[in-house]
Amino acid sequence: MSGRKRVGVLISGRGSNLSALIAAQKAPHWPAPICLVISNRPGAAGLDIAKSAGIKALTIDHTAFAGREEFEADLHAALIANKVDLVVCAGFMRKLTAGFTDKWQGRIINIHPSLLPKYKGLDTHARALEAGDSEAGCTVHHVTSQLDSGPIIAQARVPIKAGDTPETLAARVLKAEHEIFPKALASVARQL
Ligand code: GRF
Repeated sequence: MSGRKRVGVLISGRGSNLSALIAAQKAPHWPAPICLVISNRPGAAGLDIAKSAGIKALTIDHTAFAGREEFEADLHAALIANKVDLVVCAGFMRKLTAGFTDKWQGRIINIHPSLLPKYKGLDTHARALEAGDSEAGCTVHHVTSQLDSGPIIAQARVPIKAGDTPETLAARVLKAEHEIFPKALASVARQL
């Protein structure tokens, strides 16, 4: 495959990383235009961000399905129907099974707010502070069926400062997320 890759972004909430990806695609010769945004949560703020940018936005509510496989079958069908080449998880808060991730192997990436392999899962900033770490950061990685464990594409580090709370640290890390995610997406898209 060569040329521009059609990107489908999966979200669950706020959508600030989605905003960063949308801003990045204004660059000339951007290789990864977003053609579709899907939220598993109705009313996610990111859906409005997508619509305001003229991007097709769908809700596929996971609670409406009997199980993960049924939910993922609909998700997969929507991505295929919209000719998505590359899936980007941007604050998508559902675990994905191998049945889904195997179909998208090498073509699905995620951003995680820690320096993986440290602090997989939730509450990463509180855990970094509790551990007394001197730095934190974020990781863009390929998605596999093992949570937050696929091959690392890019990382950014930020200092942990005296007096940091999970909130102040999260804000510093989020800024770094917005910087590395578009770059990592472009590099994956160019290599596909
Ligand atoms: C980000 O911190 C991301 O790393 C994590 O969830 C948060 C999503 O934020 N997986 P947003 O919806 O992109 O604003």
